[in-house]
Amino acid sequence: MLCKTGNSGKLRLMTLELLPTLFINKTISIFFQKKIYPTTPKKYRFSIYFLNKKEYFCSMPNWKFTLPEEVRMEQRLFWAVQRSVLESLHYLNRKSGRKSKRRWDLFVFLLKIFAFLLRIVGLYRKGYGNAKTIRVTHTTLEFPNLPPAFDGFTILHLSDLHIDSIPGFAAIIIKKIKNLKFDLCLLTGDYRKDIHGLFNHILKPMYALSKYIQAPYGTFAVLGNHDTWLMSRYEKETGVVLLVNESVEIVKDGQKILITGTDDPYYYFTEMALMSLQTKGYDFKIAMVHTPELYREAAANGYHLYLCGHTHGGQICLKEGMPVLSHQYEGRQFNAGLWESGKMKGYTSSGVGVSGMPVRFNCPAEIALITLKTKK
Ligand SMILES: [Fe+2]
Repeated sequence: MLCKTGNSGKLRLMTLELLPTLFINKTISIFFQKKIYPTTPKKYRFSIYFLNKKEYFCSMPNWKFTLPEEVRMEQRLFWAVQRSVLESLHYLNRKSGRKSKRRWDLFVFLLKIFAFLLRIVGLYRKGYGNAKTIRVTHTTLEFPNLPPAFDGFTILHLSDLHIDSIPGFAAIIIKKIKNLKFDLCLLTGDYRKDIHGLFNHILKPMYALSKYIQAPYGTFAVLGNHDTWLMSRYEKETGVVLLVNESVEIVKDGQKILITGTDDPYYYFTEMALMSLQTKGYDFKIAMVHTPELYREAAANGYHLYLCGHTHGGQICLKEGMPVLSHQYEGRQFNAGLWESGKMKGYTSSGVGVSGMPVRFNCPAEIALITLKTKK
């Protein structure tokens, strides 16, 4: 079910109040930095004006947002302005501090040299074939406080689709998931290959894929560091509900669990992500974040399961479990698969797709099915 916000006058007023902030930030960025990072396409420059004309998801019989609709809309609008400013700056905003975006450009340049070398030694084709071969993993996790109605509840966890990295990749994914049975689908970010620029070309394959991942208890997604806030305008078309520092409660046979999704903390960290992980009052809580780096906060706030991706399991490993690079700094155990932090269990997906270079070595692509069981 989709509904109009019903408070368009208030939102329009808020948009007008926030626009000067956006303008000032952009001006500071242009005058005081040598190069503004080319991110938001010019054609979307005025998208913010039309945010209040957007139709938003309201609650469904099996799930509902925890915040009142009006509060959520205001929070979403504030987030959109904040995220659009962060995307236009030349640095990354991490929890640990600011980092230059040029590191990624250097990384991509080095990858091109590496790809050239792989071609010379004849391994590129093998790695490309590996990247197109996706395995479906099955994991069962037991929790003592899982409400009995959710015993056997299965989650389809997809991360790092990077659906434009390989031609025809959507069809390969669809072939793998079309016969799978699941109750809920959670996507933990990174839908396109690049970290900036246009994304229109991923809409068609994403629409195609979204038809196969509609689950009875909903399909929810968070954004990754490769994604832009502008993608939030396509919830209606895909039927995928974006959680940006928001929570939904899933209802089954009168019992509830909570799912919280944060914005990406690897490039676009804000305090709003931490605040969203402070939701209380549920027997069982799941956090979905693009990267593992908010695991401490989630565990401290009583979350029971933390789902993430981002690492691609390393994508290129010397041997299974030994990545050359993993782009996360929390510790080796967070690179891929199951891990624990206190009473919280976590799962880092090895990712469906690839980025940087369309190859994988000793690190298969993954579509994860996670079944929750009540520990007796
Ligand atoms: Fe990724």
